Amino acid sequence: MPLTVGVLGMGYVGLTLTAALAQAGHTVYGVDSQPRVVEALRRGRPHIYEPGLTEVFESMVGRTIFPVGELPEAGLDAVMVSVSTPVDDRTHQPMLENLRAAAAHIAQRCGPETLVVVRSTVPIGTSRRLVLPVLLEAWGTALLCMAPERTIQGQALRELVDLPQVVGGLDEPSLEAGVAVFEQLAKHVVPVSSLETAEMVKLSNNCHTDLIYSFGNEIALIAEQHGIDPLEVIRATNLDYPRPDLSKPGFVGGACLTKDPYIMLASSPDAEPFLVGRARELNEHLPVHVAERVIAMVARARGGEVAGGTVGVLGWACKGWPPTDDMRGTAVESMVPLLRAAGLTVLGHDPMVHPDVIAQYGGTGVPLADVFQADGVVIVNDHPEYRALDVEPLVRGGRAAFVYDAWRVLDESTVRRLGLEYAGLGYRSRVAS
Ligand SMILES: NC(=O)c1ccc[n+]([C@@H]2O[C@H](COP(=O)([O-])OP(=O)(O)OC[C@H]3O[C@@H](n4cnc5c(N)ncnc54)[C@H](O)[C@@H]3O)[C@@H](O)[C@H]2O)c1
Repeated sequence: MPLTVGVLGMGYVGLTLTAALAQAGHTVYGVDSQPRVVEALRRGRPHIYEPGLTEVFESMVGRTIFPVGELPEAGLDAVMVSVSTPVDDRTHQPMLENLRAAAAHIAQRCGPETLVVVRSTVPIGTSRRLVLPVLLEAWGTALLCMAPERTIQGQALRELVDLPQVVGGLDEPSLEAGVAVFEQLAKHVVPVSSLETAEMVKLSNNCHTDLIYSFGNEIALIAEQHGIDPLEVIRATNLDYPRPDLSKPGFVGGACLTKDPYIMLASSPDAEPFLVGRARELNEHLPVHVAERVIAMVARARGGEVAGGTVGVLGWACKGWPPTDDMRGTAVESMVPLLRAAGLTVLGHDPMVHPDVIAQYGGTGVPLADVFQADGVVIVNDHPEYRALDVEPLVRGGRAAFVYDAWRVLDESTVRRLGLEYAGLGYRSRVAS
């Protein structure tokens, strides 16, 4: 039976959820507190890039998708809360004001017959301690679920249907209502026994991902000290070995992986976790390490003189695959200031990122070929365009003396045959240092 659903927060999560619900035949009121976001959506123009999203909004706005500044006063079967839950830049403490405001708005506009679903990522216990009291004060009773968003950007519309939807309920009626709603969206629904379990599932997923990536990075940093190729180690380690695989080294970016470990830390006030914080620290160190390596390579290329040099950076978004324009948690955020502080000019290219955004992060946006006019080139993300790069004409037409290929997307032998120094994460260039 088609539902009428409100979605609070029209960011990455709310927009894709709105589109997926509409595609499944439901009517959706998409609410955002920023008028410019609502205005753009009313014109069928989502302000973020996600494959398939614009097409759904263009065809369904005004029919089954209604972008609004406030929830309608009646008639909603469910409200999904997908507002941002950032952490403070300095203290890393979760900031839950948006969630509090969303709960108050729902309490004002809806009633106890409307199922409230917390979709945002929150510290364990937040749905019960922060959202529930606001609803109970207004209504006396409430149907409340926590169903975390677990999609990856770039594949969200597919994953919203294909990924199991984990749902925890305040009580049996809440859980039943939550399962019934998500069964109308996704192929698999996984009921869990409490709101807190569902909250912790999300945090565990992301902290685990941060941790396994950090281990690949740890291996890379150790291999580098011995002149060992970490990819050779990792390949041989994993090949036909029936126990857990190592992940390749790489930058760990994106809005969630860079903040959710801090939300997990805030969820463990009585005993500091051993691994979560250290894994994050290591992954945040990686761009700093790469910047130092790149500065050393510029020094070699310029006879010891770093200041006044140029570095070309390919890939500014937080990841290259699936392609995204998302800059949250991007490695360039900490890398570029270090390059600039060393006196380097940074040229930049990313097929997904506008030159204005590159400028905001301290670079000068240029066409791809011009990046090779720098003293050296750093490949920061693995966008498919970089994997498919025909490097020979770029090198011949440019003046770069090295490539730091963080994702090892280029053919090393070609780069070296063309006379350039080649390096990657944890991979020391074979040219004498
Ligand atoms: N980005 C992801 O891929 C992803 C994946 C899984 C989970 N999450 C989690 O989902 C939540 C939302 O993430 P996002 O990436 O969509 O955030 P976002 O910053 O892209 O969007 C959040 C939106 O909420 C709006 N908003 C804030 N307070 C509001 C309020 N009181 N009422 C109405 N609108 C309000 C903001 O204006 C903004 O447009 C976060 O908790 C995040 O951790 C994100």
